Formats: sequence, C-alpha cells, structure tokens
Amino acid sequence: MRRTGRFLLLALAAAGLLALAVGVAAALALRASGLSARPEPSALEARLARAARRFAVPAGVRALRNPVRPGPAVLAEARAHFADHCASCHGNDGGGGTELGRRLYPRAPDMRLPATQLLTDGELFDVIENGVRMTGMPGWGGDAPPEESWKLVLFIRHLPDVTPAELLEMERLNPVGPRERREREEDERFLRGDPAAPAAR
Ligand code: HEC
Repeated sequence: MRRTGRFLLLALAAAGLLALAVGVAAALALRASGLSARPEPSALEARLARAARRFAVPAGVRALRNPVRPGPAVLAEARAHFADHCASCHGNDGGGGTELGRRLYPRAPDMRLPATQLLTDGELFDVIENGVRMTGMPGWGGDAPPEESWKLVLFIRHLPDVTPAELLEMERLNPVGPRERREREEDERFLRGDPAAPAAR
C-alpha cells in the first residue's frame, strides 16, 4: 500500500514537471515568433487544429446527410451565394488564393483537395453554420434557414468540377469596393459612347 502511494506521488510529480516543461517551451516559442500571422502554420499545428475541430463536432452532426437534392437551380443559387459571401477569402474556385485568404492564419484552405472533400456533409455544414473559433472562418448560421448552408455544402462538393463559364459568372457577382464600382460605371459609360465619360482616370 505504501509502495503504491509513493509510486503515485512520483507519477504526479513527473506529470507536473512535464506540464511545466511544455508550458515553458510554449512560452518560449510564443516569445520567439510572437503572434504574427505571417509564417506558414507548421504541419504539426495544422494537424492538431484539424483534430481539435473534428473532435468538437458532435458525432450526430458529423453523420448528417445533406437533405437538399442537387440540381441546376439549387447549384446556381449556391454559386451566387458563394460568390457574394465566401469568395473574398476562399476565391470563386475555392482554392483560397485570394489576397485575404492567403494572409489569414490559418490560411483559407484549398477546398478542392481531399482534405476538405473527404469531410462529411455534416462536418462541412457545421463549419459553415458555426464557423471556426480563432480562425478567420465566420459562423453563418442563425439568421438564414439551415437549407442555405446545405446548399453551400452542395456547391463545395461541386468545386473540383467548377467550369470556366461558372467562374466568369461568379466574377460578376463578387462584391466590389467603391473604386472598382466607379471604374466599371465609367467603362460602361465609355462603351455607350457617353460624351460625359472622362477621357482618363
Ligand atoms: C473572412 C474569411 C472567410 C470567409 C468570408 C469565409 N471563410 Fe470559410 N474559412 C476561412 C478560413 C480561414 C478557414 C480555415 C479554418 C480552419 O483552418 O479551421 C475556412 C474554412 C472553411 C471550411 C472548412 C474547410 C476545411 O477543409 O477546413 C468550409 C467548408 C468553409 N470555410 C466554407 C465557407 C463558406 C461556405 C463561406 C461563405 C458562406 C465561407 N467559408 C466564408 C475563412 C473564411
């Protein structure tokens, strides 16, 4: 009995020392790299974050199947929605290569790749509805009915096969800032031959 007690005490002390060492190492690493979003997340960090995200999705949600049936009209609606709300970070093609997506920490992932495509419908739905804390991914659920997110799941499944014609259509639906809007209006006026169009900008 006394032996077991001593063993337990030793084990507890060892665990305490280990926790302290991990804490010190984490603090030193934080000091060394700061909280800069510029370095590429390490493979270990990305794996841990993904594992934590997976763990956080309840098994019941993970197993959900998409209740919305795919079809041209549903896909067109989801495509327009994606161009308007998601493409600023994810890109129209879902590749994540946008100015914003490449600068976030973690980066906006290339959703055409297996890492995303192998997630279940329920996992994709959960990320869209609730977002991912401490990343740039916002949670969109709450105001709109859940069908909106399910339709987006369908579009994400379609990303690996998205066509140039679809991408062109999406470009017209991407939100633009005031300067670009002005430039587009000027171009249109110029094309109409409107004499009020400024010659140069
Ligand atoms: C402000 C930037 C931003 C916007 C806008 C945004 N996302 Fe994200 N999204 C992210 C980031 C960053 C991640 C990576 C999160 C992570 O690593 O856990 C992400 C992850 C995801 C994922 C998980 C993919 C994977 O493999 O990890 C899905 C699905 C997703 N976003 C869908 C959407 C949809 C649909 C919209 C629009 C309704 C949207 N996102 C809008 C930044 C954004």
